[in-house]
Amino acid sequence: MLELPVLGSETAPQPAVHTANGARLVYVETYGCQMNLNDTEIVLGILSANGYGVASRPEEADVILLNTCAVREHAEQRVLERLNHLKPYKRQKPWLVVGILGCMAERLRSRLLGRNALVELVVGPDEYRKLPQLLEHAFAGEQGIAVRLSRVETYDDIEPLRTEGISAWVSIMRGCDKFCTFCIVPFTRGRERSRPLNSIVAELQRLSERGFKEVTLLGQNVNSYRDPVSGADFADLLAACARAVPHMRIRYLTSHPSDMSDKLIETMAAYPNICKYIHLPVQSGSNRILRLMNRGYTVEQYLERIERIRQVMPDCALSTDIIAGFCTETEEDHQATLELLRTVRYDGAYMFKYSPREGTRAWKWGDDVPEEVKLRRLNEIIALQQQISYEVNQEREIGRIHEVLVEGPSKRNPEEWQGRTDTNKVVIFPRTPECSVGALVRVRIHRATSATLFGEVLAA
Ligand code: SAH
Ligand code: SF4
Ligand code: F3S
Repeated sequence: MLELPVLGSETAPQPAVHTANGARLVYVETYGCQMNLNDTEIVLGILSANGYGVASRPEEADVILLNTCAVREHAEQRVLERLNHLKPYKRQKPWLVVGILGCMAERLRSRLLGRNALVELVVGPDEYRKLPQLLEHAFAGEQGIAVRLSRVETYDDIEPLRTEGISAWVSIMRGCDKFCTFCIVPFTRGRERSRPLNSIVAELQRLSERGFKEVTLLGQNVNSYRDPVSGADFADLLAACARAVPHMRIRYLTSHPSDMSDKLIETMAAYPNICKYIHLPVQSGSNRILRLMNRGYTVEQYLERIERIRQVMPDCALSTDIIAGFCTETEEDHQATLELLRTVRYDGAYMFKYSPREGTRAWKWGDDVPEEVKLRRLNEIIALQQQISYEVNQEREIGRIHEVLVEGPSKRNPEEWQGRTDTNKVVIFPRTPECSVGALVRVRIHRATSATLFGEVLAA
């Protein structure tokens, strides 16, 4: 899913909602993908309905929850380090409750309890409704663990607690049934299940009434969405959303290449408010490795999908995920991945070193590509993709006029503002009177790096 890197290891700020006197305050730190960000909003929705307030800083909190990711070793390391940094807070406030939520909670379960005598609560992604009760027990000094996975939980009736803004995440399904051999997600998130279409559309309408301008529909594999009520598929859902909130931009993450149907591509093309951007993780350019990964497609089938997308939507931006150094990967397999990048010429990519995860099928096959080889291959992939992103931007973006959704002052220079194109590229431009947060402005691009476009706002 996208970044926040598609899948990231950034932590996101949480909304500061101030509370009536006396309420206990909770602070949640989020790691991992966008689904985790949306889960944090769900957790805050549950807790605020149960009398908790939201702290804007960990120092102020009576409860600190880390909503964690288990996708790679590095993501887990960061959380363990963070736990060490939280020790002083506990010393200052002995009643402080520290809990681990999310995918690491599901993976490590009771192994997390009592870690540094700090963690008192371990709650997996399908058990957040139990948080208020578990917290009551934790304040009474009892450790708590709830890590059952559910076949039905979608938190459909919970209103996520979001700060006002222009962009919102909405989970449309949970879990994953693909079982790629490297991936821990099917084990930490359980079986695939979808939310009813009507309730998703109603949530989008509420977001639109609150002034949100953009929504990203989330799932590990959104194109296997099925409305449990009507049987409608993901293309039907997208069309229903596009019609229900015609003034909102609609994005989605992530699609699996095997399920990228013609119907979905044609639906994207048919609605101007469905953003022309697809994140389509390929993982490797070698058919042997794709088979070992259980991805369910060949390079040829993948390229045929890319061709179809480009026939129907010539301006659609594309990004991907790549894993370098999966077990048994040879130099020839690696060259095939570089070749695939040259063939597709993605706008961008998220690139990772293979990280073996206990419990997956590939775990048993070992981790036979030496660390320095993995790193060298990853660096070659990154260097090539950066070059391609740069060239693609020079060729396709200079002189182009984009409709840009204004996000606010740029991070580097507050004199300049930033926004995003329909194709999900960041654009920097000098502020004009038309520029207010959430406005759509037309920007002509005059310069580009591999990751950012620079331009000027055209008069309305
Ligand atoms: N459901 C999405 C991706 C979820 S995980 C999909 O199928 O595309 C996001 C990305 O993390 C994956 O696409 C993959 O590139 C990477 N990833 C997952 N497991 C990994 C592992 N064990 N080591 C390295 N990268 C991994
Ligand atoms: Fe993991 Fe594969 Fe499911 Fe994506 S589709 S979450 S990579 S198992
Ligand atoms: Fe997301 Fe990480 Fe879990 S990527 S689904 S938080 S393992």
